[in-house]
Amino acid sequence: MKAERWNQLVKAALRARQHAYAPYSHYAVGAALLTASGEVYAGANVENAVYPLGLCAERVAVFNAVSEGHREFEAIVVATENGGTPCGACRQVLAEFGLDLTVFVVNAQGDVVLETTVRDLLPASFGPDDLPEKRP
Ligand code: THU
Repeated sequence: MKAERWNQLVKAALRARQHAYAPYSHYAVGAALLTASGEVYAGANVENAVYPLGLCAERVAVFNAVSEGHREFEAIVVATENGGTPCGACRQVLAEFGLDLTVFVVNAQGDVVLETTVRDLLPASFGPDDLPEKRP
């Protein structure tokens, strides 16, 4: 990935992290998703007083991009305080749109802590191809 694009993605993830609404966990997460067409969609975790209703940054970014008509993605940068990696639910949601997605985890300073793929993060996954094409 070109340096300019990389800087744009990391900046977007760190910026989104600043907007995290995490008054309960105090664990702010930001994500920036690069579409195949070269656009960047960001997301932050948004918590709720009814705890289970909170949503992770990665899923906010994916739903944001899909809502704007995107279904093909190249990479996601996830920014956490300490290099924490995407949760299982987010891995599943990312897998829906392709196992080859590159996943970068950066810390609060933007340093890369992990570079991997959804395939490696979610081995033996269940996905769209496991369902019959035509259902009653
Ligand atoms: N969180 C994310 O946003 N992404 C992850 O992959 C891990 C966890 C959020 C959810 C919750 O708001 C807070 O971090 C603590 O779990």
